[in-house]
Amino acid sequence: MPDVSVLMTSVGAYLPKKILTNQDLSVFVETNDEWIRQRTGITQRHIVDDGELTSDMAREAALKALQRVGLDGSDIDLIIVATTTPDDTFPSTATKLQHQLGATCAVAFDIQAVCAGFVYALDIADAMLRTGRGRKAIVVGAESFSKILDWKDRSTCVLFGDGAGAVILERDDDPSDWGIRSSILHSDGAHRDILFVDGGPSSSADVGHVRMEGNKVFRHAVEKLSSVMDEALAAAGMTVSDVDWLVPHQANIRIIDGMQKKMQLPSDRVIRTVDKHANTSAASIPLALSVAVNDGRIKNGEIVAFEAIGGGLVWGAALVKYGRPKN
Ligand code: UT7
Repeated sequence: MPDVSVLMTSVGAYLPKKILTNQDLSVFVETNDEWIRQRTGITQRHIVDDGELTSDMAREAALKALQRVGLDGSDIDLIIVATTTPDDTFPSTATKLQHQLGATCAVAFDIQAVCAGFVYALDIADAMLRTGRGRKAIVVGAESFSKILDWKDRSTCVLFGDGAGAVILERDDDPSDWGIRSSILHSDGAHRDILFVDGGPSSSADVGHVRMEGNKVFRHAVEKLSSVMDEALAAAGMTVSDVDWLVPHQANIRIIDGMQKKMQLPSDRVIRTVDKHANTSAASIPLALSVAVNDGRIKNGEIVAFEAIGGGLVWGAALVKYGRPKN
């Protein structure tokens, strides 16, 4: 039994109002609904409006997560925003969020691990709360990937969407089997060239656009995700039969279904939102979690498995007993 527990007590999410369907895309790029659905499972994506920022989406998601458990910004000690599409090069989106939430006592910073950003941020927040660097944290995944897409490149622009999701983590000094049970991360920079953005502050004059060799990333995905999930299960002393729900990163329905088969999980135990949200990078897991908690599928005390892979390559998995033990 661990010395303390780090509970995941709440979730909130935000999606921009504007929706772009596959049909809408086919008007300005050479693609079609059938290709996108068959190869990715995506039917539509939400896109930020002019002037709508990553920090605006992060704030809405964080407020919903706070409200769900009756907390406000002043209760929070730590804010981590996982994003690859911050409002500005600096200061961080997290410090903007801290100010907007009135979280005056919180330490706030961004982390950048692209589509694995949420599992990376979760791991860091878990370690910080476990070692006494605060009692309550907000971990946000928030992305405006539409801002870094090349809208003429059909091999990437059809895949992504915008949105934000947030979870509340709370340190519980009574050790229990609730909360974050294990978390494993990996990185391998040798694969930089199969998924990257061709711009950035020190390499170019502009922020650049997403470039991807999708089929190469695809080949890494199921293999690396299933092996890191095995590591996370072993670290938690669990087997797949203990897992109630898989909430995977939502990049492609074929990767999600591949994971479900590799893990031999029943299909209805996997949360799929890629059809409506597309790939929202760091936001995709908390967005999917929010959908499943709100529609009553994921309940207090159930074991949820998270996994994600993104540019770097970076990847990871975590196992969480969701919610709070009843007194
Ligand atoms: O979240 C971060 C991690 N990212 C991922 O996990 C993404 C992983 N990769 C994938 O999801 C898939 O590889 C893609 C969905 C990106 C692509 O699917 P694919 O089955 O690997 O297709 P492909 O790239 O091998 O392309 C097949 C064909 C090509 O045409 P030819 O060369 O066979 O004539 C492409 O030009 O499909 C063509 N194509 C399209 N056709 C219509 C590529 N994009 C499109 C498009 N519409 N949007």
